[in-house]
Amino acid sequence: MNQLGKFITLEGVDGAGKTSHIEFIKEYLTNLKLDFIMTREPGGTELGERLREILLHDEMTPKTETILMFAARNEHIEKVIRPGLTSGAIVISDRFTDASYAYQSGGKGVEDEEIDVLKDLVQKNLQPDLTFLFDLPVEVSIKRLKKTRKLDKFEKEEKDFHENVRKKYLMIAKNNPKRFSVLNSEKSIDEIQSQIKIKLDELLK
Ligand code: TYD
Repeated sequence: MNQLGKFITLEGVDGAGKTSHIEFIKEYLTNLKLDFIMTREPGGTELGERLREILLHDEMTPKTETILMFAARNEHIEKVIRPGLTSGAIVISDRFTDASYAYQSGGKGVEDEEIDVLKDLVQKNLQPDLTFLFDLPVEVSIKRLKKTRKLDKFEKEEKDFHENVRKKYLMIAKNNPKRFSVLNSEKSIDEIQSQIKIKLDELLK
């Protein structure tokens, strides 16, 4: 693929404040007059959004869940992400494959090797250029979640599940230090946003 644009992904445990920083990133790129696409997983396409409804609310085995995540992802990559990057846009996805390793493997025990197979099948040479990991101790994220919304299937999981998801994310970040920027979500919004700005400027210069 002839990739002209940049691919950025946003990850983190539920309740780590991803959503509010998405607004900041959009505003920042709009002010710079850059062409960008903000999208999300599971979702990002018509079929993907229908799969999202099922994935977030229906019970299924962890392996089925993984396969459906990657079915939605394949649609997303072919219809939104690759075309966007080929046209030279910055494509930002609210979650991507790291989430499958963190939630389905870290949280639910699917083998990494099985996820590797699906990843190779749908992603081929596609890799994010930059991944922001919004990190927060699980006690704090659970408190925040309970205050702010009606919980989906993943958000209702036990504390141990979220601990394992967080651990897995931090391990992936540690193994890919060039791609990851880990943001401590306990810091002030201003501090987090200035770290985001530095990383975006570095990537987009
Ligand atoms: P999330 O991105 O947190 O959206 P919202 O802020 O609207 O709740 O919700 C998506 C959920 O899907 C989240 O709990 C993580 C989960 N998920 C996986 O388990 N595996 C995946 O591969 C992806 C992309 C998401």
